[in-house]
Amino acid sequence: MRDYREFLGEVLIPEDKLQARIAEIGAEISKDFVEKDNLLLVCILRGGVLFLTDLMRQISIPHAIEFMAVSSYGVGNRESCGHVRITLDLNIDIRDRNVILVEDIIDSGYTIAAVLELLSTRKPASICVCTLLDKAERREVFVPVKYSGFSIPNKFVFGYGLDIDDYYRNLPFIGVVDLDKYQAIE
Ligand code: IMP
Ligand code: MG
Repeated sequence: MRDYREFLGEVLIPEDKLQARIAEIGAEISKDFVEKDNLLLVCILRGGVLFLTDLMRQISIPHAIEFMAVSSYGVGNRESCGHVRITLDLNIDIRDRNVILVEDIIDSGYTIAAVLELLSTRKPASICVCTLLDKAERREVFVPVKYSGFSIPNKFVFGYGLDIDDYYRNLPFIGVVDLDKYQAIE
């Protein structure tokens, strides 16, 4: 495996900025849900996992966590499309719970829209979306986003949960992939 520095275009969001924004979102969620019971954070695997673990430590009210995994097929493996498949479903009943979907990034919107539609049929008390990154320019279906960390340009990014061909999720910052350099050495 290559060192990420060989294809890092630029650091888009450094670690301190990520953590500061996540603390703000955690405080906002704590305030918004303080009067409500049954808060449940549902992390969409695998990209949302770093965001979830940092975010939950910034939420000061009691809450539970759950995991779900989805795969979406599209052109190549860097784009999703309308066909979204649940590969790991929730293990619990979400009826009457206040659900927050925790996602790494919303791109076309197909993935999170499909998850929202499915979970809404299970009668939660409420359901909303919390995403770390939003590539709004790429949106193809409308998604109501309640909490958003950063709006980012239409560039392929990696690190902090986001992968490039399944690797580099561990990096503590969000970087832009220089696709020419990445492909040249692929
Ligand atoms: P959507 O269905 O097009 O909104 O795609 C959302 C999913 O595609 C995300 O959950 C990510 O897993 C993946 N994705 C979209 N853009 C990027 C990116 O720039 N880097 C890494 N993964 C991405
Ligand atoms: Mg994802």
